[in-house]
Amino acid sequence: MTSLTEIPEWAVLAEDVEAMKATSMRALFAGDPRRFNRFSIEAAGLFLDYAKNKITEDIADHLIALAVARDVEGARARMFAGEPINVTEDRAVLHPALRDFAMRDYHVCGENVSLKVRAAREKMKAFIGRIHSGAHKGYTGKRLDTVVNIGIGGSDLGPQMATEALRPYWVEGRRSFFVSNIDGQHLADTLAQCDPETTLFIIASKTFTTQETMTNAATARAWFLENGGDEAGVGKHFVALSTNTHAVAAFGIEKDNMFVFWDWVGGRYSLWSSIGLPIALQVGFDNFEKLLHGAHAMDEHFRAAPLRENMPVMLALVGVWNRNFLGAASHAVLPYDQHLHRLPAYLQQADMESNGKRVGTNGAPAPAPTGPVIFGEPGTNGQHAFYQLLHQGTDLISADFIAPAISQSETGDHHEILLSNFLAQPEALMRGKTEDEVRDELSAEGRAQAEIDRLAPHKVFPGDRPCNSILMEKLTPETLGALIALYEHKIFVQGVVWGVNSFDQWGVELGKTLAKAILPEIARRGEVKPAADTHDASTNGLIDRVNHLRAKG
Ligand code: F6P
Repeated sequence: MTSLTEIPEWAVLAEDVEAMKATSMRALFAGDPRRFNRFSIEAAGLFLDYAKNKITEDIADHLIALAVARDVEGARARMFAGEPINVTEDRAVLHPALRDFAMRDYHVCGENVSLKVRAAREKMKAFIGRIHSGAHKGYTGKRLDTVVNIGIGGSDLGPQMATEALRPYWVEGRRSFFVSNIDGQHLADTLAQCDPETTLFIIASKTFTTQETMTNAATARAWFLENGGDEAGVGKHFVALSTNTHAVAAFGIEKDNMFVFWDWVGGRYSLWSSIGLPIALQVGFDNFEKLLHGAHAMDEHFRAAPLRENMPVMLALVGVWNRNFLGAASHAVLPYDQHLHRLPAYLQQADMESNGKRVGTNGAPAPAPTGPVIFGEPGTNGQHAFYQLLHQGTDLISADFIAPAISQSETGDHHEILLSNFLAQPEALMRGKTEDEVRDELSAEGRAQAEIDRLAPHKVFPGDRPCNSILMEKLTPETLGALIALYEHKIFVQGVVWGVNSFDQWGVELGKTLAKAILPEIARRGEVKPAADTHDASTNGLIDRVNHLRAKG
């Protein structure tokens, strides 16, 4: 395949950028009363307005041409067909199979994996029924009303984000905690709030080898045994979500208490699988299935809608335009719903671990920038923290604004105020404020000319800052499912355009290996241990300093 930047479709877009320098988004809106209709899409309970991107109908067509040239449709078909598109790990990528309610059968290497998917879901459902009914009790005969999910990365962020997002659907009397960090304080702070007689520990790890999770799991088990539990009770209080049957058995969790998934489910795409058990325990199995249904609706749209009317495709392509042609190296995710407060963190992994790649699937250096830095906070909190830089900083940063029109708990006029901000911020980023407008405003306030001259440059907003608005009626299990699937497919399409493998994560390995080498060099408290001198001077110096501080402490 010809290099991305050498194909004619890329050159056309590069010319478009030059042409766009002479205009502004304000002018584009003024010149086209149909702009909102032209650049918006509705699907699966979501409405996407991408009119506040610096694009025209021609540029949208050119972006589609780029997608066609990069064979996005072919790649999409290969994914749904279960081909091993994760080429560096030789794996299929079939998370949509986990939520396909059209009763399609998916195959991996000739095996019908849909049968396994359905069986695994039934096992989950039955277990949840037993926990909720109280048929499955703890070692002293009490109901297990508390869940502590121990996992990290995809085995934590997705379930935690979705559980938080669906707070209004929580089953009464149930509590969930998510422990991820190897920092012992995370587990200790959580266990301080738990009763061993009523706590179910879910050990969630695709590989069941992740250092943080296995260490936290062992400590949780020890806590359980030290606080009244016995070995027989472990079987009642510990379950595993994993692909690694042997390691789960070695940890002492029996087959009945293991909920499986498969290597064709990427960690950061796994909340639809058994990894979703903590979500389902907290919101009920029916609501968990509704989440899957919402994602399935977006899958159906992504499979079938023409590219120009395809929400994930257009979201991806305007992202490529902003990243590669307008130079936006960062992208903000700004949910105007407090319950979506973990969405930015979840999307950091989903996007950055997927597309933060400098080498293409062909092993050659990526010829153009790939995944942007993803960050964000719920609105309106972010407005009072970092939006200053979005509006007036020297870098161009693109953004997604996300909101439900109706809050799950409408209190006074809170939601109207929230929505007014959700609508105003994209308008401000797009419009900006010209120097003339600033000067007129200051003079209307009766300011002296010298003061106007001094203040004017500080009060100018350049505008032309691109953003998308994603609106839904309400944040429900269905719309949440659709929203997550929207981003999954957006990430996929961008990976295809950039020519990277969105489904491996080799970049996390080096740090893990070096930490393993350093671990024996860290002194236990009170011990004096000189650094082994096996690293660079900075790392050796820091090891020495850490060890001295620990010896003193
Ligand atoms: O180190 C990165 C990573 O492999 C992620 O991709 C993954 O989601 C996370 O670690 C946790 O992995 P596991 O579920 O195997 O414990």
